[in-house]
Amino acid sequence: MSNVILIGFMGCGKSTIGKRLSYVLRKPFLDTDRMIEKKEDMTISELFDRKGEEYFRDMETACIKELMEESGEYVIAVGGGIVLREENRRLLKKLGKVIYLRADADTIYERLKKDNTRPLLQGDNPREKIRTMMAQRWDIYEEASQFVVDVDGKEFEDILKEIGEKIL
Ligand code: S3P
Repeated sequence: MSNVILIGFMGCGKSTIGKRLSYVLRKPFLDTDRMIEKKEDMTISELFDRKGEEYFRDMETACIKELMEESGEYVIAVGGGIVLREENRRLLKKLGKVIYLRADADTIYERLKKDNTRPLLQGDNPREKIRTMMAQRWDIYEEASQFVVDVDGKEFEDILKEIGEKIL
């Protein structure tokens, strides 16, 4: 069945749902942000700060290419902005089944209002930042995915069930 890839905005639940899905599907879980942190030996925030967003985006592309060389099958959570590059969208679809976990701006804001690990949401007015970025990315996530699962107000179990119905 190949890899299963979870995309979506920061805070939509890619890692939490991905870990549970990995257990259900019996495929190891990978997270591209964690892979990058390990390679660079620093957090995503430090990386943005010291080397800049473009460097991080190049690492995301390199990560996908590295995963394409892997022979195992994984559940992969990717960073929320990985789909911004057309090349990445194309490669992700080759890498496996791409599922978009779609959440609205209010859900994301409630989950991330106290978070300080997302460099792009720091500073004044995170609610507005979320709204603006989400509007810019809305169509991109849909274009990048083969399956869309709405997550607002749903229990993890129901989301897992829906994913299963779509991909199995
Ligand atoms: C980003 C999302 C983050 C992380 C980085 C940039 C984005 O990952 O890759 O802070 O541009 O949406 P999560 O979606 O796992 O928070």
